[in-house]
Amino acid sequence: MALVGCGSGLPAASISNDQLSERVDTNDDWIRSRTGIGSRRVAGADESITSLGLKAAQAALDHAGWQASDVDLVLLATSSPDDLFGSAPRIQGALGAIHAVAFDLTAACSGFLFALVTAGQYIRSGTVRRALVIGADQLSRWVDWDDRRTCVLFGDGAAALAVEACPAADDGLVGFRLRSDGRRGDSLTLNQIEQRTPLVQGLDAQVGGFTPIRMNGQEVFKFAVREVPAVLRELLEGTGTDAADLDWLLLHQANQRILDAVADRFGIPHERVLSNLVHYGNTSAATIPLMLDEAVRDGRVQPGHLLGCSGFGAGLSWGAALLRWRGPAA
Ligand code: UT7
Repeated sequence: MALVGCGSGLPAASISNDQLSERVDTNDDWIRSRTGIGSRRVAGADESITSLGLKAAQAALDHAGWQASDVDLVLLATSSPDDLFGSAPRIQGALGAIHAVAFDLTAACSGFLFALVTAGQYIRSGTVRRALVIGADQLSRWVDWDDRRTCVLFGDGAAALAVEACPAADDGLVGFRLRSDGRRGDSLTLNQIEQRTPLVQGLDAQVGGFTPIRMNGQEVFKFAVREVPAVLRELLEGTGTDAADLDWLLLHQANQRILDAVADRFGIPHERVLSNLVHYGNTSAATIPLMLDEAVRDGRVQPGHLLGCSGFGAGLSWGAALLRWRGPAA
């Protein structure tokens, strides 16, 4: 699978830490020093997972130089779809990707990596030639804006990668490891509400709806700084790659302290750690492709560059992938 195009779809409105501190008891100094976040995008009334995902997918398609009818698979990694039955088909339809099968995949902040690996399996098996993998979340729908421990962290956004079949020797998915541990799932949840409605004698039916995001921040922080280096190390060893061979470290953008801690564990200089959470905060499934798109477009990531990636979050779920960027055909 070759990585040949990328694109982003971001909400227009940006909210600074100072603006947020007018809504909830927080301040710019706390947010910046504890997380590295300076502002975040929040979807307006005319924006949604479908519209942002579509913008990202169209940009990736254009970047790759494909026609929409060339796409065989549209995979949308999201935990906040517009429609629980799936938002990927809406994007596929609006894009005009008439030959593509489209579905959602949920693995929270690890979702993009899980979806990219899934697309890789379809491509390697020969079932699919060209795929668009989108990571999109609109967690502003699901945060409790009165809970300062969580609402300052998240932002909305979407980004996509265009990937296609290639000779095995050129495969841009150099290696991967994916992990889940539901036993620790309670530390970060977006659970259904506990409300039931009388149905018939002896049976109440569940009422649909979700409670806001709840997170044990310290537990998740400890999980990330323990498991991310472990899974990355396993991947590097398994693929015979030295950390010094990585052109870039591209981690899920949750907290600058996590990025720094992981980089330090591998002796990777901070200049080679990609970070944009100062502008966007944690956009969940979108962080990795959003960061990649920015770094490709500003020329930091060049064709042939090797990226050590890791996603982690609710589930709990985590994983790592070694990706080689190829870019569009010249
Ligand atoms: O994408 C999913 C993955 N998620 C993550 O990776 C998140 C991982 N966790 C973290 O990034 C950090 O744990 C947080 C940024 C969420 C919190 O940082 P922390 O250094 O662990 O802070 P804390 O929760 O221990 O809170 C320290 C203090 C508390 O006050 P007291 O009890 O010491 O008086 C909090 O009430 O900071 C207070 N606090 C705040 N103060 C101002 C918590 N949130 C805020 C806030 N503004 N927004």
